Amino acid sequence: MKHLPLQKLINYAKDMQQKAYAPYSKFYVGAAVQTNCGKIFGGCNIESASYGLTVCAERVALFHAIAQGYNSFTHLAIVTNTGSSPCGACRQVMHELCPTSSVIIASPTSIVLQTSVDKLLPNAFDIPL
Ligand code: THU
Repeated sequence: MKHLPLQKLINYAKDMQQKAYAPYSKFYVGAAVQTNCGKIFGGCNIESASYGLTVCAERVALFHAIAQGYNSFTHLAIVTNTGSSPCGACRQVMHELCPTSSVIIASPTSIVLQTSVDKLLPNAFDIPL
């Protein structure tokens, strides 16, 4: 992969993919979010034998960062073997927790798409605070 400024974040997501706990689907996902102050937090998908309790890598990464006290994000990178798009549930959570982030969707060897949360989830659901 060509060296890009985003490479560090993508590599972090790639490392997270190695930590995925996905014995049922065997679909391994890594994610990494970058805060506005440049810190990176990672997440991987974590499955449950009660399938619906599975949590996606993107949400684990965002919840990890929030739990460490960070709530402003510039980038979110997602790595899967297929370069797949994030699911609808994660798009909703991104809309709420990192609405202005750039989203990088990648395979282990290339960027598939760099987009925005608004483009991934137009006309998103909100409860006015
Ligand atoms: N998965 C993610 O981690 N992120 C997504 O956006 C879509 C799906 C996980 C959940 C499950 O462990 C596996 O991929 C197959 O659905």
